[in-house]
Amino acid sequence: MSGAQRRSVILGTGSELPNKVITNEDLEKMVDTSDEWITVRTGIKERRVLEEGKGNADMAYRAAQRALADAGVEANDLDAIIMGTVTPDYPFPSSACVLEDMLGARGAFSFDVGAACSGFLNAISVADSFIRTGKANKALVVGSDALSRLLNWQDRTTCILFGDAAGAVVLGASENGSRGILSTKLRTDGSYVKQLYVPAGGSLKPARAETVERNEHTITMNGKEVFKIAVRSMEEISREAMDEAGVSIDQVSLVIPHQANRRIVVALAERLGVPMEKVMVNLEKYGNTSAASVPVALDEARRQGRIKNGDIVLLNAFGAGFAWGAAVIKF
Ligand code: ACO
Repeated sequence: MSGAQRRSVILGTGSELPNKVITNEDLEKMVDTSDEWITVRTGIKERRVLEEGKGNADMAYRAAQRALADAGVEANDLDAIIMGTVTPDYPFPSSACVLEDMLGARGAFSFDVGAACSGFLNAISVADSFIRTGKANKALVVGSDALSRLLNWQDRTTCILFGDAAGAVVLGASENGSRGILSTKLRTDGSYVKQLYVPAGGSLKPARAETVERNEHTITMNGKEVFKIAVRSMEEISREAMDEAGVSIDQVSLVIPHQANRRIVVALAERLGVPMEKVMVNLEKYGNTSAASVPVALDEARRQGRIKNGDIVLLNAFGAGFAWGAAVIKF
């Protein structure tokens, strides 16, 4: 493992799950599906949905407040707020700016990073670079998405998979330890753009009565292709991140993968050679919460006492783009 140098350390974590629960039984009343099909194919039992009238930043704010309290850091001490999201409150400005105002973080520069389900990995990687290069001392990194806003609730192939949530971490600088973020790795392959995307609502096909009529503002996905590439890519990038960090899979105490589908997680664990006891899974309660999935699972793992000082944790994610990433962190 590489020696002492300036690194980012996790000072605190927090998460927020909306109160409204949609169970598989609820979905049975909405589309032609069954609890059994959803459970067997995905492992998901229920998901949360952000109430109407609330925006992404409302969730992010609560997660951020909890992370700041956990870290003992004041909002005014933040140098950067970086938010992974593809469901900002407005087309512009960024939800990170909305969040900055809610928190009263007067000294921060804030922006969103759009990498879909990999958004938190991208955001933490960017924040880590700012910290390691001395451009920031304290950063709030958020993964927050309300994919319920992009779902066609008549499409059984997508509406059963996703939920809304926010997760946050506060990063600080450590000058003299081997603790902290040991490595991050990011990758994309834009040739897969149309395998998982929202066709309308951007500059190519702006919102019009016809696009709404055709349901083009909702998620379109080739599930089988996503599944296949997700498993392979997350395995590869996890190995690259571990190589860069100089750690072996046996030294990893806990893997926190993107919570998309239990079958993807199990296949990934098998390929990495990790027993499921060392893999964090909470997707049965929340479904795939996009950029929030990894930080929410990280926060839950910490609160459940599954991460102790000195533990090495591997994070990984995969999503639209395709975009994927991994990080190795020593607590
Ligand atoms: N309920 C009942 N039947 C369904 C449902 C449903 N909700 N959805 C599809 N079916 C039917 C299909 O129509 C098909 O019927 P047919 O055989 O008569 O044509 C049958 O079930 C099998 O469908 P498949 O698509 O082949 O099912 P598969 O085993 O591939 O599972 C799933 C589908 C769950 C989407 C899987 O491919 C998957 O998880 N892919 C990854 C997608 C994902 O996680 N995306 C999230 C974003 S990216 C990421 O985060 C990794």
